[in-house]
Amino acid sequence: MDQRAAYQKEDSLDPIEFRDLLIDSTLGERRPVGDSERMEIMVRNANLIVTARIDGLLVGVARSLTDFVYCTYLSDLAVRRSFQRQGIGRDLIRQTKLLAPQAKLVLLSAPAAVDYYPRIGMTRHEHCYCLDDVSALR
Ligand SMILES: CC(C)(COP(=O)(O)OP(=O)(O)OC[C@H]1O[C@@H](n2cnc3c(N)ncnc32)[C@H](O)[C@@H]1OP(=O)(O)O)[C@@H](O)C(=O)NCCC(=O)NCCS
Repeated sequence: MDQRAAYQKEDSLDPIEFRDLLIDSTLGERRPVGDSERMEIMVRNANLIVTARIDGLLVGVARSLTDFVYCTYLSDLAVRRSFQRQGIGRDLIRQTKLLAPQAKLVLLSAPAAVDYYPRIGMTRHEHCYCLDDVSALR
């Protein structure tokens, strides 16, 4: 665990702080960071947000939706660029899982992180399906 970082569940994360971290981490390229209303709702309606802070500075975030007993969907995992590869991402996942230990933690990897999750011990699932547009249903 990164000794300098403090990890905590945050129930009122500032959406602007969240957005700025996503942009800095590069995950902002794949999230609606230009739509402040959507970003605010993403933060407000997530029910498990774990942050990593060093001297108050937000250096990492794991934003999840969970029922706490069966399923946790980890939607956004991001670490500030200058703090990457120091164990913060792994610790954010660890803390998220510890807060809902009975729930299976699932996520969709960004292309840049496909080698990351197996490296830290997560298993790839062959049976994952997505629906981007309801018109695709037949
Ligand atoms: C991907 C990300 C969350 C990983 O967090 P991190 O704190 O940088 O990574 P960690 O320190 O936990 O890394 C643990 C191990 O995985 C390795 N690793 C880190 N990022 C990796 C990557 N993208 N691909 C492969 N391995 C990676 C580290 O070198 C480290 O290896 P070690 O245990 O041998 O030292 C972070 O780099 C990030 O925010 N990236 C940009 C946004 C992104 O892609 N997020 C994922 C969205 S699905």
